[in-house]
Amino acid sequence: MLLEVRDLHVEFRTRDGVARAVNGVSCQVAAGETLAVLGESGSGKSVTAQAVLGILDMPPGRITAGEVFFRGRDLLKLKEDERRRVRGAELAMIFQDALSALNPVLSVGDQLGEMFVVHRGMSKRDARARAVELMERVRIPGAAQRVRDYPHQFSGGMRQRIMIAMALALEPALVIADEPTTALDVTVQAQVMDLLAELQRAYTMGLVLITHDLGVVADVADRIAVMYAGRIVESAPVHALYKAPAHPYTRGLLDSIPRLDRKGRELYAIKGLPPNLMRIPSGCAFHPRCPMARDVCRTDEPPLHAVDEDRGSACHFWRECLDG
Ligand SMILES: Nc1ncnc2c1ncn2[C@@H]1O[C@H](COP(=O)(O)OP(=O)(O)OP(=O)(O)O)[C@@H](O)[C@H]1O
Ligand code: SF4
Ligand SMILES: [Mg+2]
Repeated sequence: MLLEVRDLHVEFRTRDGVARAVNGVSCQVAAGETLAVLGESGSGKSVTAQAVLGILDMPPGRITAGEVFFRGRDLLKLKEDERRRVRGAELAMIFQDALSALNPVLSVGDQLGEMFVVHRGMSKRDARARAVELMERVRIPGAAQRVRDYPHQFSGGMRQRIMIAMALALEPALVIADEPTTALDVTVQAQVMDLLAELQRAYTMGLVLITHDLGVVADVADRIAVMYAGRIVESAPVHALYKAPAHPYTRGLLDSIPRLDRKGRELYAIKGLPPNLMRIPSGCAFHPRCPMARDVCRTDEPPLHAVDEDRGSACHFWRECLDG
């Protein structure tokens, strides 16, 4: 297994109290596999990714338990310099906001080239040639000329392509992309997502794709992990999950996106708001919003039940949910 996260817990200590942002996340990503991580705002998607990558703000954040095995090593036990080495070359990230992730005072060619100079010991000249190649690979028109331009001279979609090029430069085994297309308009979003999916296949790398948009992941992901209040509440192969969700929260998410096969049906909205992480509801954290909730849901926290050999649901009544 390329990445294996085991029982990860993260909390934030603030003046107002302790926010329990990640509460026992376990998941796996195989080589060449795309895992989509889905959930409403504040469900702990980014914090989980930051903890895995070793870029969590500590303090106020604190990893209170868990293990993160990447190619057999527990990243949480590595020293910072060892971890930084892994992060550049084997494990890369793509953020939502390319403008703040790129260096504004270096040309994109210099930024891309630097990866090859630092990590591969290339000459500046060779590194520049590789930078142009990479820009062509992510389909930036006129790459040979534009390699001298600065990040602000590119459109949002082109900047996101440059960030993808940076992430893929050293051919990492795993890329974690946190809402990589959210800041773009819809048509550009689709192009960038297609490009990412195409490169993921070409490099057979593992990809973790964080999004709150169930619509965009259907075509690109192999598996989906649905997060709620810092836990994975359902984990399943994409097609199985789309066909029949085994958790009422997943069902709510599915019913709230427009789908071609459900034309004419009214869109559903999950009632209420995600919980305050300083006061997570007892029992099943979803119970105040769940249309299927019963007494036991208020008192007993559901474990992740095995629905199938490669599928889990943290709902006491997953069978009923699955049956619709
Ligand atoms: N720097 C921080 N200081 C204090 N609390 C934080 C901090 N970062 C995150 N949190 C807490 O962790 C929770 C989960 O945040 P996270 O960024 O993981 O959400 P998310 O699922 O990525 O949401 P979004 O879809 O909005 O990006 C937040 O709601 C907040 O309570
Ligand atoms: S355990 Fe109960 S409250 Fe939680 S999702 Fe299942 S039915 Fe709903
Ligand atoms: Mg986030």
